[in-house]
Amino acid sequence: MDAVSVRNLTMKFDEFTAVRDVSFDVARGEFVTLLGPSGCGKTTLLNLISGFLQPTSGTIEIEGKNVIGVPPEQRNTAMCFQSYALFPHLTVADNLQFGLKQKKLPHAERKARLSDVASKIGLGPQLAKLPNQLSGGQQQRVALGRALVMRPNVILFDEPLSNLDAKLRESVRLEIRAIQREYKLAAIYVTHDQGEALAMSDRILIMKDGRIQQSGRPDRIYKAPESSFVADFIGGANILDATVIGQVGEKNWRLDTKMGELTAQSDTPPVAKELKICWRAEKAQFGSGDLNTVTADIAHRSFQGNYTDLFFTVDGALQRVQLGEEAGELSASITFHIRPEDIIFLEAIK
Ligand SMILES: Nc1ncnc2c1ncn2[C@@H]1O[C@H](COP(=O)(O)OP(=O)(O)OP(=O)(O)O)[C@@H](O)[C@H]1O
Ligand SMILES: [Mg+2]
Repeated sequence: MDAVSVRNLTMKFDEFTAVRDVSFDVARGEFVTLLGPSGCGKTTLLNLISGFLQPTSGTIEIEGKNVIGVPPEQRNTAMCFQSYALFPHLTVADNLQFGLKQKKLPHAERKARLSDVASKIGLGPQLAKLPNQLSGGQQQRVALGRALVMRPNVILFDEPLSNLDAKLRESVRLEIRAIQREYKLAAIYVTHDQGEALAMSDRILIMKDGRIQQSGRPDRIYKAPESSFVADFIGGANILDATVIGQVGEKNWRLDTKMGELTAQSDTPPVAKELKICWRAEKAQFGSGDLNTVTADIAHRSFQGNYTDLFFTVDGALQRVQLGEEAGELSASITFHIRPEDIIFLEAIK
């Protein structure tokens, strides 16, 4: 049985549809991320699962039980927010216990759970402090602890790390994942940070305009995006229009593009004669090759430490090549090639 099972979920606010016919499952112990741009419906979807909103149509099951109409506190879910939402006048200990008191758990049970969670998330020494006496990272830990102490089946995160600086984000990220694994929680994690999604998730659901565009393991989504939206959103791929002009052998296709004639290798044929293709900046091979050699004028360069991004223009749009030390020797122009297997077919041009 899945921990969460969502079928054909739709949420309308008057005329506006924020979530459209969304279906997915989350297994026990699985970490699933909802990734998408601002306004695509991520928070709305979490609020539907936690019970703070009632859907217009569709079903939600938690641990096999239909929860439509069941109030949030009876759903066995816990939510962890970006804004922490801690009570400023309560100590860390009382913030952590708040939900347990509301549930009227006996004192001994509350104490046991509190000390277990406080030691897991390293907040033992902070228990007597007020939230404004804690750093941002510590406050985020209290918010996480407050969710964990409820021992939910499902934990829901709404951009929990966006108030933290980059370094802290990375360490709290690892901590969240370790705790989620240890408690074998089903987690649904909302972010618009693609790096966070790739690093943390067992599976990513990419959303746009209230719909799931593509779902899969992080490496599959990165290697095999199915649309230009996904290719661009994850990893900022170079995207080009292409016309298929011929097939060579079983798996190679000749393409006419604004970057010249290219050969792409694919196990599946292109979906149309006119379609979009993409290639990743880091797949550019320095110097010329047997196929797909491109020479371009460098428009900008951007040193990134262990690599350099070089930009050039094709038909008015910037394309990006990522090179290592070789980039240092280039000034006016760049010659590189792309292996046919590194060119990916996307959707048809309508
Ligand atoms: N209570 C509401 N009434 C009307 N429209 C709403 C309501 N809540 C959300 N919306 C609209 O639904 C859409 C999705 O909102 P939602 O908060 O789910 O987006 P999001 O993906 O979480 O975005 P962000 O990354 O900015 O948090 C937005 O266009 C928003 O304006
Ligand atoms: Mg949101």
